[in-house]
Amino acid sequence: MCGIVGYVGLQSPQNFLIDGLEKLEYRGYDSAGVAVVNEGEIKIRKAVGPIVNLRKVIGDEDLGGRVGIGHTRWATHGGVTVTNAHPHFNSDKTIAVVHNGTVENYIELKAKLQAEGVEFISDTDTEVACMLIAEHFKKLGDLKAAMDAATKEMEGTFVLVAVAADQPDKLVAYRRNAPLIAAKGKNFNFVASDFSAILKHTKDVFLIENGDTVVLTKDAIEIFDEDDKPVKRELMHIGWDVDAADKGDYEHFMLKEIHEQPKGIQETLSRSLTEDDRIKLYGIDMTAEQLNSYNKIIIVACGTAYHAGLVGQYFIEKIAGIPVQIDVASEFRYRRQFIDEKTLFIAVSQSGETADTLEALREAKKQGAHILSIVNVVGSSVARESDEVFYTWAGPEISVASTKAYTTQLLCLYMLALYFADLKGTIEPDDYADYVAQLKRIPSQIEEILKKEQDIERLAYDYYDRDQVFFIGRGLDSSVAFEGSLKLKEVSYIPSFAIAAGEMKHGTIALMEPRTIVIALATQDAIFDKTVSNIQEIKARNAHIISIAKEGNTSIVNHSNEVIYIPECRDELTPLLTVVPLQLYAYFVAKDRHCEIDKPRNLAKSVTVE
Ligand code: AGP
Repeated sequence: MCGIVGYVGLQSPQNFLIDGLEKLEYRGYDSAGVAVVNEGEIKIRKAVGPIVNLRKVIGDEDLGGRVGIGHTRWATHGGVTVTNAHPHFNSDKTIAVVHNGTVENYIELKAKLQAEGVEFISDTDTEVACMLIAEHFKKLGDLKAAMDAATKEMEGTFVLVAVAADQPDKLVAYRRNAPLIAAKGKNFNFVASDFSAILKHTKDVFLIENGDTVVLTKDAIEIFDEDDKPVKRELMHIGWDVDAADKGDYEHFMLKEIHEQPKGIQETLSRSLTEDDRIKLYGIDMTAEQLNSYNKIIIVACGTAYHAGLVGQYFIEKIAGIPVQIDVASEFRYRRQFIDEKTLFIAVSQSGETADTLEALREAKKQGAHILSIVNVVGSSVARESDEVFYTWAGPEISVASTKAYTTQLLCLYMLALYFADLKGTIEPDDYADYVAQLKRIPSQIEEILKKEQDIERLAYDYYDRDQVFFIGRGLDSSVAFEGSLKLKEVSYIPSFAIAAGEMKHGTIALMEPRTIVIALATQDAIFDKTVSNIQEIKARNAHIISIAKEGNTSIVNHSNEVIYIPECRDELTPLLTVVPLQLYAYFVAKDRHCEIDKPRNLAKSVTVE
């Protein structure tokens, strides 16, 4: 999604802005630009493609000034062109604006402005926002007043940051349902859409709330609420260290983050277990009475987080005996929902900024549900709008393809289920203790799988040029199959399909050809024979079978061309392990295909538009 940086200080802004934008590259973008206010004029430089192209456009020029804004754009309205890149400006370049999100009524606003003689050069909703601010600025003469008046006319979810040529000491920002922080530097102040842009300068940030307007000067960060009252916002210290957002010795963030999974799980466990291995969920203090008051749980998420939710649904139902509905967030709001105060709504989101998930959460909240979220970014919108938050401690996940966030989300869902089962008395103490003991072994077991990296790299190399790959499994294996398929699609662009193994014979098996790869997850002892039957049906059509099974399972070899083994653990916990070979497989296939692994085409790390 789009990235925003704003600076007011004693030095020329351009290096701060571009450096900040480079820290936001991981979010995905297709053009970038900066605007600096200098001696009564606004200098704007923009480029399509990576930020290095913007650096080339600026060259050795010093744009000067003390106030500036920068932006990385992920195209929504209008194609990828310099004209459509941000910052946008009015015809006499007295106002410049950057924007994240969507102005939903931009067409009506554009028609109104055109009727007043305003001319447009781009196809974007951002230019409409800019012109609206400029028109109000002409009448009011004050940038904050102009921002307030303009945003009152706009509908949608967005962050806007504006500068004015005749106000060289300030910028004004506005937040509505998209991420924005403000930060104090040594002799400068910042606004940004994401912590990563400012980590190098400070770890203390103000969390800007919906409806807030921020007036930033080099000496002050003034925040006004939607009633235009000055407010103090929470100052939050970011626990991440700068090199956590750095590749280190790894060629790609994705491989680094796959290898960080043992640490992420260990960190999340350590924050959620007491000395005597009881689950104590930091940030959640639910009583048995409160839990028993819920007659259903709904898990809502997108993409990888949704796949984690599938495992959570299975395990909560199995050991806590509570019915769990699950839905992709983009569908949730358009279905008849039966939600009230007896509903526990669980949002799962790595970034905590996914618009689909946020909007679903808001809808559920409106209907009375209790909101519990599982989030990886402290202070993110999902976290701030939830009643309770159970944080994953995976550390910053930079690669667009989510890996360590997924396994820590799984862990949180397992612990939540065990916590619920303990509260409801639906689990025997020995069983509870065994699950916890097995969860504590997962980090070392993942390390064992990571030691097989070269075997998986060879396997990937042998088949990187295949034109379709299927992932199949039954029960929890099918949930992980969906995640493995998404990983491969995202980073290698190979058409990949996940399907419940038992479903293959109901049509999809027609696609089997000798060059087809089928990755068969066969870790569930209870249904192993059924899975083998499905594998045999496929093998009979000469597809190439790569199976994933538990160590000690020798029979699987008879039905597979290749086998990847995972360490032994209870059936219910295998997703924490099965996913690792699939992540590595996707990574190495993409590498052999010379793909842009950390920033795949068309994708963004956090999808802040619906
Ligand atoms: C996963 O690899 C993808 N990047 C994507 O599906 C992602 O999981 C989805 O957009 C949800 O993001 P979130 O967890 O930040 O809400």
